[in-house]
Amino acid sequence: MSLFRKKSVEHMIATSAQNAGLKKALGALDLTFLGVGAIIGTGIFVLTGTGAVQAGPALMISFLIAAVACGFAALAYAEFASTIPVAGSIYTYSYATLGELAAWIIGWDLMLEYGLATSAVSVGWSGYLQSLLSGFGVSLPVALTAAPGALPGHVTLFNLPAFLVMMAITALLSFGVRESARINNIMVAIKVIVVLQVIAVGVFHVSPANWHPFMPNGWNGVFGAAAVMFFAFIGFDSVSSAAEEVKNPKRDLPIGIIASLGVCAVLYVAVAAVVTGIVPSAKFANISHPVSYALQEAGQTWVAGFIDLGAVLGMLTVILVMAYGQTRVIFAMSRDGLLPARLSRVHPRFATPFFTTWLVGIFFGLIGALVPLNVLAELINIGTLAAFSMVSIAVLVLRKTHPELPRAFRCPGVPVVPVLAVASCLFLMLNLQDVTWAAFLIWLLIGMVIYFGYSRRNSKLAK
Ligand code: ALA
Repeated sequence: MSLFRKKSVEHMIATSAQNAGLKKALGALDLTFLGVGAIIGTGIFVLTGTGAVQAGPALMISFLIAAVACGFAALAYAEFASTIPVAGSIYTYSYATLGELAAWIIGWDLMLEYGLATSAVSVGWSGYLQSLLSGFGVSLPVALTAAPGALPGHVTLFNLPAFLVMMAITALLSFGVRESARINNIMVAIKVIVVLQVIAVGVFHVSPANWHPFMPNGWNGVFGAAAVMFFAFIGFDSVSSAAEEVKNPKRDLPIGIIASLGVCAVLYVAVAAVVTGIVPSAKFANISHPVSYALQEAGQTWVAGFIDLGAVLGMLTVILVMAYGQTRVIFAMSRDGLLPARLSRVHPRFATPFFTTWLVGIFFGLIGALVPLNVLAELINIGTLAAFSMVSIAVLVLRKTHPELPRAFRCPGVPVVPVLAVASCLFLMLNLQDVTWAAFLIWLLIGMVIYFGYSRRNSKLAK
C-alpha cells in the first residue's frame, strides 16, 4: 500500500493559503502572456519544416488536431490547477491525489518535458542564430553547427551555439535571475509581432498551387505530424505553476490556460497555411529555419532577417522558463526525499539550487549539442503526453475521493472530457515512432529502478 501513500490535499490547501509571502498580483491577461511566452518557440519556428515534409499543406490540420488534444487536456489540467492552487507542477498535485508512485512517474516524465525541451529549444535557437549570422556573411565551421547525423550529407559533430546558449541561461538561473513579468511581456510582444509579420507579408507570396497535393502522405502523414507538432503547444501548463501568485486563481487560471492555447492555435494554423503556400512542402527537408526560409524564398530577405532576430530573442525565454521548471521539479522531488538531498540544497549567497541548476544545464546542454532535434521532440512529446494523461485520470480520481473540495473551475462534461483527453493523448502517442516508444520505456524502466532502489526508502512521507 505504501506505493499509494499520499500527501493530504487539505493540508496542501491550508499551507498554500497561509503562504502569504508571495504577492498575489497576476490576472487572467498576465497569465495569458505567461502562457504564450512559454508556448511560442522551436515548435512553430523549426518543427514546422519537419511537419510540412510529413503532412504537406495539411499541416494546418495537424496543428488543429494537436490543439484539440491539448484543449481537452487543458480543461482537465485547469480543474486540477484551480482545485489545489499550490506552487509547483503536476508532480506536487499528483502526490496528493494519485499517491507516491504515480507522482514519481509524473515527475520522472516531466524531466522529459522540461529538461529535454530546453535541449530542443536550444537546437532551434542555434538554427536561427546561424541564419541570422549568415545574413551578415558569417558562418561557423559546419562540424560545429549541428548534432552528429542531423544534417545528411555533412559531417557534423557538435552543436556549439546550442550548447553555449544553454550555458548562458544556466549561468543566469544559477545566479538567481528569473524572468520578470516585464521581460516576458516584451518577449511575447516580439514573438507575436514576428509571427504576425510572417502571416501579413507571406500571404502576398502564396501560390495556391503549392497547396496541391494537400495531403501527400495521406492521413498517416497528418497524424504523424500532429504527434510531432504537439511540441509547439507545450508550455501552456506553465500557467498553472503560477497559481499561488494569481489574484483569483479559480477564475483566472482556466482563462489563462485556455486563452494562451487558443491564441497560439490560430497563429500556428495561419503560419502553416502561409509557409506551405509559399514553398512546396518537400523543400523544407533539413531546413533548420523554415519560417524565415520561406520568406527568403519569397524574396523578402529583410523580413526574413527580422524573423531570425525575433526568433533568436523570443526562444531565449522558452529555454529560461523550461530550465527553471526543470530545476524546480527536481528540487521538489529532492525535498520530498525521492531524490538525494544534495539536489535541493540552496546556495547561501544566490538563494538558488545552484548545484542542481548547473548539473541540469550541463546535462541537457550536452544532449542538445549531440542529439538531432526530431529525436528530441518525439521524446519530449511522449513524456508530456503520458504526464497529461495521468493528470486527466487524476481529475476523475479526485472527483471520487474528494467530491467536497471547492472547485471554482469544473471541467465540463466529466467524465467525457477527461476521458477524451486521455484518449487523444494516447492517440498522439501511438502516432510517434517505435524507437521513441523504446526510448520512453527504457526511461520509465530507469525511473522504476531508482524509485524502488532509492526513493521509496528515502521518502520523507514514509518517515
Ligand atoms: N512549445 C515550446 C516550443 O515550441 C516548447 O518551443
